[in-house]
Amino acid sequence: MLIRAALAVGVLVLASAGTAPAVAEGPRHLIVGGTLASTSEAPWAIALLNKDSADPSGQWCGAVLVRPNKVITAAHCMTQALATYTAVQGRAELLDDSAGQTSAISASWIHPGYNRKNYRNDFAVLTLARPLTGVPTIRLETNLKADRKGVVPTVYGWGDTQDTGPEDTFQKAAVPDLGDAVCLGIKQYAGGGYAASNNVCAGYLAGGIDSCQGDSGGPLVLNGRLLGTVSWGKGCAEQGFPGVYAEIAPVATTLQARINDAQVR
Ligand code: ARG
Repeated sequence: MLIRAALAVGVLVLASAGTAPAVAEGPRHLIVGGTLASTSEAPWAIALLNKDSADPSGQWCGAVLVRPNKVITAAHCMTQALATYTAVQGRAELLDDSAGQTSAISASWIHPGYNRKNYRNDFAVLTLARPLTGVPTIRLETNLKADRKGVVPTVYGWGDTQDTGPEDTFQKAAVPDLGDAVCLGIKQYAGGGYAASNNVCAGYLAGGIDSCQGDSGGPLVLNGRLLGTVSWGKGCAEQGFPGVYAEIAPVATTLQARINDAQVR
C-alpha cells in the first residue's frame, strides 16, 4: 500500500533496516497488494499533502477525521512547517483537484510521549483551518482488548504501492492482527521499539500486502472504529516483516481531550 513521504523526510524506522525495500514477493494487486477504495466507504480518511513532497501530487501522509476540525496523524509526519500542509478529504485520485474538499492546518499537537527514535506514541492531532462539515467522523477504539490476534482490520491510504498498483490513488487492504507476540518475536522489531502496550502488529508474514511509505498516520479500522494508525515497518510487504501500527485505545483518553478542545492551540 503505502511508501513515499518518508523517503523525502528521511524517515528511517529501523536503523539497521537497510535501504530500499525489496519489492513485495507476494501477489501483485494494488497498494502493496491492496485494492481500490472509494472515499465514500471511508469518508473520514484524509490525505495529508505537503509542499515539500517529492511527489508532484504533494502526497505525504495519511490522517483521520475525528471531529469536523480535527484529524489524527502520525507524529513522525510533522517534520515540515505547519503552513506547508494541506488536508484533503473525498479525493480518491490525488491529481484530480476537482474532487473533495481541502483545508489548511491551523495548529498541531504532538503526543508528549512521542519518541522519534523508536516511534513510540507516534500521534499528532491537527486542527483544520476550515472544518469539514457534513463529513462522517470516525470514533476512537477505547477497548484495550480490541487489539487481539485473529481480528482483521482494514488499512487505507494513498501511499506507495511499490508498483503493485496506481500511484496517488486511494487504496485499502485487509491486514490480519497477528498479535503482539509475533512482532515482539521479530528481532529488529523488538529492538526497534515495538511495544505491546502501544502498537498493533498487522499484516502477512508471507509478505505481499502491507501499508507503506506515505500511508503513515492513516487509519487502521476495525468494526467502524479507529484501532490504530500507520506507523512503521521494515520495508513494505516484505516476508517476515508485517506492519507496525500505533494503537489508539491506550491513548484514547489523551487524544480525546485534544480532540474535544475547541481552542486552536
Ligand atoms: N513510516 C511510513 C510512512 O511514513 C509508514 C511505513 C509503514 N510500513 C509498513 N511496512 N507497514 O509513511
